[in-house]
Amino acid sequence: MATAGATGLVLATACGGQPRSRTSVAGASSDVPTDGIWSEPPVLASQGGLLEATLTVAPAVVPYGSGKRWALTVNGTTPGPTLRLRPGDRLRLTLENRMEYATNLHTHGLHVSPSGNADNPFLEIAAGKSLVYEMSLPKDHPGGLFWYHPHLHHHVAEQLFAGFLGAIVVEDGFDATPEIAAAKERIVLLHDALPAAGEAQVMRASKMQGREGSVVLVNGQPAPDLSAVAGSLERWRLLNASPSRFLRLKLEGHALSLIGTDGGRLAASRELDAISLVPGERAEVLVQPAQPGTYQFATGAVDRGSMGMGMGMGGGRQANSGAANVLRFNVTGEAASARPPVLSTRYDDLAQATPDRTRNVVLSMSGGMSFFIDGRQYDPARVDIRARLNSVEDWTVRNTSTMDHPFHLHVWPFQVLAQSNGNPPAGWKDVVNVPAGGWVRLRVRFAGIAGKTVYHCHILDHEDLGMMGVIEVA
Ligand code: C2O
Ligand code: CU
Ligand code: CU
Repeated sequence: MATAGATGLVLATACGGQPRSRTSVAGASSDVPTDGIWSEPPVLASQGGLLEATLTVAPAVVPYGSGKRWALTVNGTTPGPTLRLRPGDRLRLTLENRMEYATNLHTHGLHVSPSGNADNPFLEIAAGKSLVYEMSLPKDHPGGLFWYHPHLHHHVAEQLFAGFLGAIVVEDGFDATPEIAAAKERIVLLHDALPAAGEAQVMRASKMQGREGSVVLVNGQPAPDLSAVAGSLERWRLLNASPSRFLRLKLEGHALSLIGTDGGRLAASRELDAISLVPGERAEVLVQPAQPGTYQFATGAVDRGSMGMGMGMGGGRQANSGAANVLRFNVTGEAASARPPVLSTRYDDLAQATPDRTRNVVLSMSGGMSFFIDGRQYDPARVDIRARLNSVEDWTVRNTSTMDHPFHLHVWPFQVLAQSNGNPPAGWKDVVNVPAGGWVRLRVRFAGIAGKTVYHCHILDHEDLGMMGVIEVA
């Protein structure tokens, strides 16, 4: 029997926090492949300022390396098609729900209207029904990697975990700069799964911790091989699309040059030896292969706290994301010695803005069982925060619990001014981790778009259990 090392699969904590052995997973999937095949989702690109497409969501059996697995698919694949847009474009998407349960669609990170049939998380599409979504990107929409996933309260984690997700790329002038245009662009959607489990029943304790899969997939494949030529430039668009797993990514033998975050470009590229991505976060990096060889791109173990000492089923349990190999980077050709170019671009810095008001937001848990924002659980009929259109606010988001919570706001991106643990992340963000017992101070500009939407923990099981609030900007 193959060992975990030989398959490139590394097993982590699965259902209920019980470590699963290779054999218990393999029992249901004797055809777990020995290596994945590099593939990227199909592309649907806008033409003449419009992207009109149908996204059909349905369960299916999909290729999984040399084997097969059950998944929720969009137009037959998981991840679903990558939507490629430009600032100013219109998007008209028919979401066709061929599942046996209700769903809806969210365009995570896009600065678009949350009202009507645009990026409205309060809509519901019943089993067998469809809905036409329409939204417009402002002409000054930043370029970068965004994504879509379902957002029907109570069911987000299970539907995303099962494979309902896809990338949205907004192209812009930066893409045309010669160094960037010459680079090989890769969509790298990281998503953990329980490939052997089919439509898994996830236990309550595992929801409280945030469910994690046994494998980390790249574009739906386990530990694929990615080949590149020494001396070339690679541009990786990374997304952590896992419902709960935190990633800390390193590429053996290579620095990663960060050029973009959730909501667009950095003022200047910065060289890092590891990239941390909590659920929902993105990073765009340049990689310059120089020496021929095989290098692992892997995620390390991340401690994301514990369920606390409560009386609940999860009391005291640690919530750690396990280490896993993500992909094998095969560099061929002659040794080269170049470094990734240092790029700079125009950056809209909120540091000089004057906030119109400040606010406190408190994330809490009780007994490891219940999840709250400002002491309340989600109620779509209540508005928790009212903000003024075109104002700037500073929010201090505090986490009084024993577990980390990645905080996410729809529609209006923010910048992180300060945080309790170390230096704040650079760039425009829409997800930021708020560490157990710590805080994050962010500045948000409610520019241009009014409407009602949500903010929540992006450990989607926590969101489904009520860690979400409603904001109305008018
Ligand atoms: Cu990706 Cu409301 O979230
Ligand atoms: Cu979102
Ligand atoms: Cu959380």
